[in-house]
Amino acid sequence: MKTGVCYYPEHWPQARWAEDAAHMQRIGLSHVRIGEFAWSRLEDANGQLTFDWLKEAIDVLHAHDLKVVLGTPTATPPRWMVDKYPDMLALDEHLQLRDFGSRRHYCFSHDGYLAECKRIVTHLAEAFGEHPAIVAWQTDNEYGCHETSISYSPHAHTAFRQWCAQKYTTIDALNSAWGNVFWSMEYDHFEHIGLPVGTVTESNPAHRLDYWRFSTDQICKFNKAQVDIIRQHAPGRDVLHNFMGNFVEFDHHLVSKDLDIATWDNYPLGFLTRDNQSVDDQQRYLRTGHPDGSAFHHDLYRGCCNGRWWIMEQQPGPVNWAPYNPSPLAGMVRLWGWEAFAHGAEVMSYFRWRQAPFAQEQTHTGLLLSNGDEDVAAHEIAQLNKELQLLSLDDKTLNVSADVAIVFSYEGIAVQDIQKPGGATFSALGFCQTLYSACRELGLDVDIVSPEAALDRYKLVLLCNSTIDDPSMAHKLEQCAASKTAPIIVLFPGTASRTCDYAIPDNLPPGHLQTLIDIRVVRSESLPPDHMSLASDELGQDCACSQWREQIVSTIEPRMHFTDGWGFHYSSNKVHYINALPMKIDLIELMEEIAEEASLRPHHLGSDLRTRKIGPYRLAFNFGNEPVDLFEALGSAFRLTPDTDLLVGNSQLNPAGVAVWLVE
Ligand code: GAL
Repeated sequence: MKTGVCYYPEHWPQARWAEDAAHMQRIGLSHVRIGEFAWSRLEDANGQLTFDWLKEAIDVLHAHDLKVVLGTPTATPPRWMVDKYPDMLALDEHLQLRDFGSRRHYCFSHDGYLAECKRIVTHLAEAFGEHPAIVAWQTDNEYGCHETSISYSPHAHTAFRQWCAQKYTTIDALNSAWGNVFWSMEYDHFEHIGLPVGTVTESNPAHRLDYWRFSTDQICKFNKAQVDIIRQHAPGRDVLHNFMGNFVEFDHHLVSKDLDIATWDNYPLGFLTRDNQSVDDQQRYLRTGHPDGSAFHHDLYRGCCNGRWWIMEQQPGPVNWAPYNPSPLAGMVRLWGWEAFAHGAEVMSYFRWRQAPFAQEQTHTGLLLSNGDEDVAAHEIAQLNKELQLLSLDDKTLNVSADVAIVFSYEGIAVQDIQKPGGATFSALGFCQTLYSACRELGLDVDIVSPEAALDRYKLVLLCNSTIDDPSMAHKLEQCAASKTAPIIVLFPGTASRTCDYAIPDNLPPGHLQTLIDIRVVRSESLPPDHMSLASDELGQDCACSQWREQIVSTIEPRMHFTDGWGFHYSSNKVHYINALPMKIDLIELMEEIAEEASLRPHHLGSDLRTRKIGPYRLAFNFGNEPVDLFEALGSAFRLTPDTDLLVGNSQLNPAGVAVWLVE
């Protein structure tokens, strides 16, 4: 794994660039991302291009052996662009204009802006496509950030009507697919189709799902327009985009189809205080980030571009944008680096080189203070780079694949977010993360894969958000189940519960998957988060569930019963149907039992310790506040004995500690 940094030469005097580059080299960085917000310095209102400074900056970095990732500047259209196309701005769900003065102020459906983007990208690609320093190009910056995936502008509205006409051909077909006979919502022609916002009460879920799909397609189209130009002028360079954390507002698997590398921006402490719902976790992991927060996304993005993934932006210290912005525990910057390595990152790049003393992000730390002195992250990264050299293997030889797969469907999550079958507080992404976390607490390595991925090589396959009743998924799972080395397959509530038109399948959920297991969901109930339903068996084992339960009709005898007689946990022929959401502690027990059935070797790690294998190495990380005795905690289950030589760290693993040892 290489390390890199995000750098904004346009923020600093040119006289400083060579010193910065030499300094980057000294702490072992090899990659530098530049240019992604620089449009106002690259072109003026008269179309005058000024690329000299950018060329100079790239040349300076090149002279210091640094590899450059050049960003296209399309996330920050300059002011003159908005004057030229006042209608290029997006409208939010309240039809409010998203105006100039920050960034991402554009609508993906504005053809004039798209043409301008193609033009500037063409100029840049022609000028720098074959520059020897440039190894990769980043398209735009964080599609969807600041709630910009979905726009309700007049341009988006028109494009959506065209999209519908193309998809359905006739308006009758659309009316029937959406069920528009309900509440007399039928349209007479495609020009009638409205936006799924501004209605008196909720708009039709089928309408909303199609609007979500349309918005993904607009992002794909916008991205691909840039990718095609870059590929034409920059042969052999990777094209990538920087995705975000805890973000499912468009289908990242579809956008990734046009990229070489999926990268993502990892702010573990920012995400914890902004997104984590549990107050306990927020307190416990305030300075370390949730033990599964980063890892979940590493595994998710590894599944987007055939295993190739980077971190494009990594938190170096306090950020500026979460409700509270704590400082990481000493050692965490190093730990996050090792953790990314353990999950197979090719590059770990930090945001940002030097803290900006002006504008929106002045309280966001960097590797240097705003005065140019080193901040603490720089020391930890220098240490990480020295330690990484202890492992001399070529990255490409390091196998990171796991035995457990979680199938991750962005569209399936959209379905659950639209009508919340698990109740107001249920989060489809959140439950997937809890399931992931349960596996990780059992010491299991996990791949998070797209619905299109081959599943037959796994020992355990988990479907927790495959909500759409997709015949091709049913076919794939049937084939897996019929093979000699059939994996254990586990289905969670809501699986195959809606057709692609957002209707309940004719044969009830789980639709086509009924050929896999004899289950019919006859009722689904959601409950307030503090209401607990207890299921138990005759041996006195029990499982506490909350939020969401399904009532099942089946010839299979359930393993447990709830007190009101509803069955819980059905299984036959290596397929399990879990028809409620177990509390985390019980989910861990349940997954342990199922993992054993899958011939895996689950081992309780507790909430703070994590481990992962990559190639011949195993790594351990301590996210807790107390030292951990590794031999005691992991023992022979992970080929660790008092005689094992640790390549990094020692057996008394301190908070923020990392240990690495050979297992092959
Ligand atoms: C990211 C963004 C960067 C910077 C950073 C601050 O979302 O891509 O440009 O704003 O956050 O943490």
